[in-house]
Amino acid sequence: MNTKKLTEKYIKFFQEKQHKQIPGASLIPENDPTVLFTTAGMHPLVPFLLGEKHPQGKRLISIQKCIRTGDIEEVGDNTHLTFFQMLGNWSLGDYWKKEAIEYSLEFLTSKKWLNLDKNKIAVSCFKGDKDVKKDEESAKIWESLGIPRKRIRFLGRKENWWGPAGKTGPCGPDTEMFYWADKTPTPEEFNTEDKRWVEIWNDVFMEYNKTEKGTYEPLKQKNVDTGMGVERTTAIINNKESVYEIEPLKTTIEQIQEMSEKKDQKAERIIADHLRAATHILGDKKNIRPSNTEQGYILRRLIRRAIRYGKMIGIKEEFTKTISEKIINTSEDQELKENKEFILTQLKKEEAKFSKTIERGLKEFKKISEKTKNIISGKDAFILFSTYGFPLEMTRELSKEQNLSVDEKEFQEEFKKHQDLSRTATQGKFKAGLADHSEEVTKLHTATHLLLAALRKVLGDHVIQKGSNITSERLRFDFSHPEKLTQEQIKEVEDMVNKKIQEDIPVKAEEMPLEEAKRQNAMGVFDSKYGDKVKVYKIGDFSAEICGGPHIKSTKDLGKFKILKEQSSSAGIRRIKATLE
Ligand code: SER
Repeated sequence: MNTKKLTEKYIKFFQEKQHKQIPGASLIPENDPTVLFTTAGMHPLVPFLLGEKHPQGKRLISIQKCIRTGDIEEVGDNTHLTFFQMLGNWSLGDYWKKEAIEYSLEFLTSKKWLNLDKNKIAVSCFKGDKDVKKDEESAKIWESLGIPRKRIRFLGRKENWWGPAGKTGPCGPDTEMFYWADKTPTPEEFNTEDKRWVEIWNDVFMEYNKTEKGTYEPLKQKNVDTGMGVERTTAIINNKESVYEIEPLKTTIEQIQEMSEKKDQKAERIIADHLRAATHILGDKKNIRPSNTEQGYILRRLIRRAIRYGKMIGIKEEFTKTISEKIINTSEDQELKENKEFILTQLKKEEAKFSKTIERGLKEFKKISEKTKNIISGKDAFILFSTYGFPLEMTRELSKEQNLSVDEKEFQEEFKKHQDLSRTATQGKFKAGLADHSEEVTKLHTATHLLLAALRKVLGDHVIQKGSNITSERLRFDFSHPEKLTQEQIKEVEDMVNKKIQEDIPVKAEEMPLEEAKRQNAMGVFDSKYGDKVKVYKIGDFSAEICGGPHIKSTKDLGKFKILKEQSSSAGIRRIKATLE
């Protein structure tokens, strides 16, 4: 059974249980300040987990493309991937633990579905702490379904709790399912340290909201959020020990082996994983390019790390484009095919750029490391970064291989002087996590809708949204417009937004079919994937946008809107940074 077949089965199973399939979201989240990439299927659903009504109902499923860079050091083992697909089923205040667990076990073990051996399954549950009690309820349900106590382990927050990685948001204990992925007989006891027990599915019971104060309050509704790793589960079904033994990774590994001079399993796997992830990031409609900030920086790190490992195993020719082309050609992902030219051009450019300096950079690193006792100075790390294009993480990794460390504090100081590089890029904003739907972010999100409407009134209907990114301090909004805004235009837009704020207009959501939303001229990023039914947020008759929320209730809560900066973003696209005071 390949990944496609698994996905089809999953959808069919949950459709029979009255779930509606929703489209997977973009890999680059809209309006989400805390994560650079979609790391789980629940990301786009945060507003609905918090209690908003979803237009498709209370039982949903999706296939979500995910990027996780938090586990990057583990890539190369049997199970960790930077890019992977996640199958998820959700109950938005509908069914709860019993049904969720029953569905999971039925899908895994029933002859009609995956037909996996129940005797090879083990599970973990939340062991409880000072805030939330032990999840005996889930353990009892597993037991009643025939999973013996010896195969049930209780673990803490690190293992059996999901979210929020941001400051606030929906979260809860989870129960994870493991499968014995080894040819040897299944041990009676579940030892969570043993990597041959592979986690394949996670049922999260989202019943809490973490508040700004750090307390856990019950959510308006009890939700179930599950995530099954497509590549891992496919490997298990096919009795393979590693995800690199199934397609599409298997072919990529073979291709790398043909090009390289030295065999090195870990390096081959890293190259295959990173180039697959880079291909999908580049294939997303948001047109992310390798750069020194945010998503572009991660993309650059992935490509450059792949190139470094390529050099290590003796690949002589340019290879990133060749490998990516095969990934695209053998994939069923339409987005990749549509963006093929862009993907390949960007890879070629980035490889050409880095190839020029990597050899010299590696020599420079050798020189630096030879004269160094324990620690590479931040200044040297910065030279490697600015002159030779070595991402800090690459220098860290090279240093580790020589048992050296890097003075990252000094690097940061050097780097602060360097205008181009967004601070977020090296401060660990890359970890997997959930949206922070804090009050500040929510307010700025509503202000973004007002801003778009005002821009269209002042500049004309050619203005459409090209990108949006919100942190708790500011909004950043990209839109189509051919020239620099005049001071008068900026003031006019600002005044118009402030006028609407003072008018105290309620912000209301309405559900309607996509066609109706279009008929009503609701703004939307129409190259995004919407379901048949959408939610339209209206601010009086001033603004209407297809959007998942969240928004504040009324404009009067926004305070004073101020445009901080107006600049070019790329050809034909302007960028505004603004804040609320
Ligand atoms: N959010 C959970 C996870 O990613 C379940 O979907 O594991």
